[in-house]
Amino acid sequence: MSPTPWWRSAAIYQIYPRSFLDSNGDGVGDLEGARRRLEHLSWLGVDAVWLSPFYRSPMRDFGYDVSDYCDVDPLFGTLDDFDSLVAEAQAQGIRVLVDLVPNHTSDQHPWFVESRASRDNPKRDWYVWRDGTPDRPPNNWTASLTNGPAWTWDEKTEQWYLHLFLPEQPDLNWANPDVEAAMHDVVRFWLDRGVDGFRIDVTHALGKDPRLPDDPPQLAGVPHSSIHDDPRTHAILRRLRRLVDGYPGERVLVGEVYLLDTSLVAAYYGQGDELHLSFNFPPLYAPWDASAWRDEIAMAEAEFGPRGAWPTWVLSNHDNVRHRTRYGSEARARAAAVLLLTLRGTPFLYAGEELGLQDAVIPPERVVDPGGRDGCRAPLPWDATPSHGWPTTDPWLPWPPDPETNNAEVERLDASSMLQLYRRLLAARRASPALAGGDIELLTAPEGVLAYERRLAGDRRVVVVNFSDEPVDVFLGSSWTVEVASDGSGEGGPYSGTLGGSTALLLAPA
Ligand code: GLC
Repeated sequence: MSPTPWWRSAAIYQIYPRSFLDSNGDGVGDLEGARRRLEHLSWLGVDAVWLSPFYRSPMRDFGYDVSDYCDVDPLFGTLDDFDSLVAEAQAQGIRVLVDLVPNHTSDQHPWFVESRASRDNPKRDWYVWRDGTPDRPPNNWTASLTNGPAWTWDEKTEQWYLHLFLPEQPDLNWANPDVEAAMHDVVRFWLDRGVDGFRIDVTHALGKDPRLPDDPPQLAGVPHSSIHDDPRTHAILRRLRRLVDGYPGERVLVGEVYLLDTSLVAAYYGQGDELHLSFNFPPLYAPWDASAWRDEIAMAEAEFGPRGAWPTWVLSNHDNVRHRTRYGSEARARAAAVLLLTLRGTPFLYAGEELGLQDAVIPPERVVDPGGRDGCRAPLPWDATPSHGWPTTDPWLPWPPDPETNNAEVERLDASSMLQLYRRLLAARRASPALAGGDIELLTAPEGVLAYERRLAGDRRVVVVNFSDEPVDVFLGSSWTVEVASDGSGEGGPYSGTLGGSTALLLAPA
């Protein structure tokens, strides 16, 4: 591995294909729609995209219930559409990551159809089956999305099967080497097609203690997938890492390790021989508060640093309320963008955050997600027309608020927009070795303010973020020039020593 693989300095942009852009008028975004808007991404200045699942699926969990890992669902297009998207993205200098969903399949996947056919089917042991009686699940685990038992009783074969998510998402049995071999074939299929890496769904749940012990009583009712942390997963990841590193071109494994403790997350980088990158969700759930963020940054440095593990930062994705909505104002979301794009680590942007999109308000009759995550999955408005650049005025979910102004076309023409702020920040990252790969040092700052310095060799930047709504004087010693301001004011001029309320500055030596 080179000391500075591309993904260390990259900014990675998540496309949720259903909501990016529709090309065929069915109201659901697709791969051809994504291809048509690659120019938005190259203009913006991101280095890679991660595509949420576009595989064949009954869509009970909107694609995270896969029934064929090696084909595109007709809703999203064809393998040819995929190849065109990848070829054009890479030609524009944008790498492509796909989502790997190895913990579970759809209950309609041929593997599970066989597995549930009879107790002696050769694929029976590809999933997690347990004896019992219909009145009492084998353990006390709670499923995500339903908050019911993580077990469903199969009437026909009179056993229970495990599902950490919906009953339509049975867990694969990774203790069976045939399952691992089959999933390695899937990984090779996409690597051979030219993908630059994978975002791995529910990475931390692959290894399981065959005794499937009860969760402690004080955690009963907590979705098991958010606390599952079994050492068997590490050997699985080491073998997957060897496979991926065997391919040329620095392919990357980014794990979704949904454990809300940074020290547990760090373990999934192994000794540099497991995940290349892992999401770290505690900062996503941190409040908009300077000392909370200071603690998260210090924690990431303390846990990742000694292992040589490279951190990641993410504020929004398809599973959580957008940070523009959570933080409650555009000014805060702008300051958060400065934070996200200047911290030490690889930032992940969720499509639409660069437009400052808020979650859509979903009327009860339009709710479709069993986990209640529709608001953040609203379609992206591309322009101010009634159909916002889509072929239909009425896509699968309602538009987010203010699509007449919060859309790609209007914001591109407005130098003061959120979109233009993201573009300036991404350009500043690319131009500064300190921002792209330097060390980070937390600086002393007044209450309500977070300040840090990034440094690599002779290159330096300072970032100050005022989490409070009031102006604050922040003394920084030497003289600094405002490179990027979250509110756009004073860029290119000297730092005045005062920071407006809910404002952040990226400063370069004067
Ligand atoms: C991950 C995905 C989420 C999905 C779940 C089950 O958490 O991000 O969208 O519902 O896994 O696959």
